[in-house]
Amino acid sequence: SLVHVILTGGVGSRLWPLSRKSRPKQYLEIFDGKSLFEMTVNRNSHLADQVMVVGNVDNHHLSEKVMNKTNTKYLNIVEATPRNTAAAIAFAAFAAKPDDILIITPSDHIINGMIDYNIAIENAVSKAKDGFIVTFGIIPTKPETGYGYIEAQGDKVVSFREKPNETTAKEFMARGNFLWNSGMFCFKAGVLLDELKNFQPEVYEKSKAAWEANHNGFLNFDLSMEIPSISIDYAVMEHSKKIKVVPASFSWSDLGSFEAVYEYLLSGDHPVDEYGNMVIGCEKHTTFLGLKNTIFVYTDTANLILQKENSQDVKDIYSALERQN
Ligand code: GDD
Ligand code: MG
Repeated sequence: SLVHVILTGGVGSRLWPLSRKSRPKQYLEIFDGKSLFEMTVNRNSHLADQVMVVGNVDNHHLSEKVMNKTNTKYLNIVEATPRNTAAAIAFAAFAAKPDDILIITPSDHIINGMIDYNIAIENAVSKAKDGFIVTFGIIPTKPETGYGYIEAQGDKVVSFREKPNETTAKEFMARGNFLWNSGMFCFKAGVLLDELKNFQPEVYEKSKAAWEANHNGFLNFDLSMEIPSISIDYAVMEHSKKIKVVPASFSWSDLGSFEAVYEYLLSGDHPVDEYGNMVIGCEKHTTFLGLKNTIFVYTDTANLILQKENSQDVKDIYSALERQN
């Protein structure tokens, strides 16, 4: 069967304080009263015959609320501790049958253009049936260092390069045949597990041991801690010769940082002053004096004032606060 796997174990640390451990950004109901998680469920509900949600013990109740609201039956895979996406995807693959086709999606992206989205998925599913691991390629608009790049020739992947530095990212842009990896994947469960076993035998074995000891989808903490924490991109995508790319003609945004949120809000009717300053999370009149491209993030319990170009550094504040607590 066709299984939609939703990855929802991330904390969205670059969006602190909007995104908190107790309510990561994918659960914030800020899009017409819906969360990005709920939009992800709805976007794929007609495509798959089964749904699996791989999330964290701290917030799986938030997924559950949405699944009940949308009346979606699903397999709940609950991690005791985040072990990154290689392990999260392995759990779903172990839970499936080897020939099941998995469509892996993050739970925190904005996607528009459903006709193109459905065509891309159909295209990916047919390549996955032929034994390929499919990624979705977005045409890059800037030398972003927070994404993976796919060096493509038609649907063939020459190389996959996760998160390059800025010089390399600029070189990729100049060369023209590089696409962004959207973070969505499609493959047969068995094909992915074979590749994981080839390239990361320890992740494979330890994820398998942890999965086999699960209780109703709940994973054991100690066995999980044994699993090396590595993303699927570094673990498999950078090494596999079985990757194909499907062009993403739908519109896509990873609302991963305040800069991305800023761009998104700017394209709507969210107010911004003549110097590019913006308030997020508060309707109160706010004046910026002598400041440019500043973002003021207001929440009940914490505020953040940042220069837009420092958006990628917010996760360091989050980590520092984590250590204090
Ligand atoms: N269940 C679970 N457990 N989910 C996780 C975990 C985990 O330990 N870690 C991350 N996730 C989820 C996140 O919530 C998110 O939905 C998805 O997996 C991807 O993780 P990110 O942490 O957001 O990855 P990234 O943004 O740094 O990079 C990936 O996505 C980019 C596009 O947004 C890569 O695939 C890049 O190549 C890609 O360009
Ligand atoms: Mg991300």
